[in-house]
Amino acid sequence: MSTRTALVTGGARGLGLAIARVLAERGHALLLVDRDDAVVAAAEELATDGHRARAVVADLTHDTGLASVVAAAADAGGIDVLVNNAGITRDARLLKMTPEDFAAVIDVNLVAPMRLAEALAEHLREGASVVNMSSRAALGNFGQTNYVASKSGLVGFTRGLALAWAPRVRVNAVAPGLIDSPMSRAMPEDVLVGLVNKIPAARIGEADDVARAVAFLASDDSSYLTGQVLTVCGGRSVAP
Ligand SMILES: NC(=O)c1ccc[n+]([C@@H]2O[C@H](COP(=O)([O-])OP(=O)(O)OC[C@H]3O[C@@H](n4cnc5c(N)ncnc54)[C@H](O)[C@@H]3O)[C@@H](O)[C@H]2O)c1
Repeated sequence: MSTRTALVTGGARGLGLAIARVLAERGHALLLVDRDDAVVAAAEELATDGHRARAVVADLTHDTGLASVVAAAADAGGIDVLVNNAGITRDARLLKMTPEDFAAVIDVNLVAPMRLAEALAEHLREGASVVNMSSRAALGNFGQTNYVASKSGLVGFTRGLALAWAPRVRVNAVAPGLIDSPMSRAMPEDVLVGLVNKIPAARIGEADDVARAVAFLASDDSSYLTGQVLTVCGGRSVAP
């Protein structure tokens, strides 16, 4: 069987790195893309553990960044799994939010995945799987109109692209809820406890909970799923 290659954006740290590690453990060769050059050390660490991993330092909002990712995909001989995970937040109440902060979040979280998918289309192998990283916040969150718009827009893009590329390529999204991350750890303890109390699973999510959901959508185990959103939130989205 030929090697399956997975390209993960935002792979320098956090969820992207956890996703890369799970996909590597399941036999994929990895292309890790990030604008932060910490992605080089991340790929080296995976390689030290015996995995095949290559870093691409690229800003996905720039033409030159997209071009270097496409060159790396061509060099790898094609892509079987594309995980559009890179994302940012710039939270503020709407009245205090600048148009620049609104546009920056839309640009990274929504426009960049669209441009990358388009740029990589001819390098996606038959049967490839695209996984877009949305968020439970796509359903609505205070102080995050830009982020909510970007992540719900990404769900719409997922559905549209799934139709456009069926049956050759499957396209799905993962929508994580509250996940243990530098962002959640920075919250005041009482706020965090209040949020965890609303989660039916009675715990905060781990990066690996999200990574395993992405790996499922990346694999043939999900071969009859396309255009779907897998919400990984411990049941928070169905809680009153
Ligand atoms: N952590 C959570 O609780 C959570 C919950 C729901 C959804 N998400 C989503 O999951 C994804 C990963 O989240 P995380 O917590 O690991 O974030 P993170 O900030 O730890 O990592 C994001 C990575 O994306 C990279 N990146 C940002 N802009 C880029 C650009 N223009 N070009 C290339 N790389 C870029 C960053 O350098 C960083 O390494 C994001 O899309 C986020 O919105 C996270």
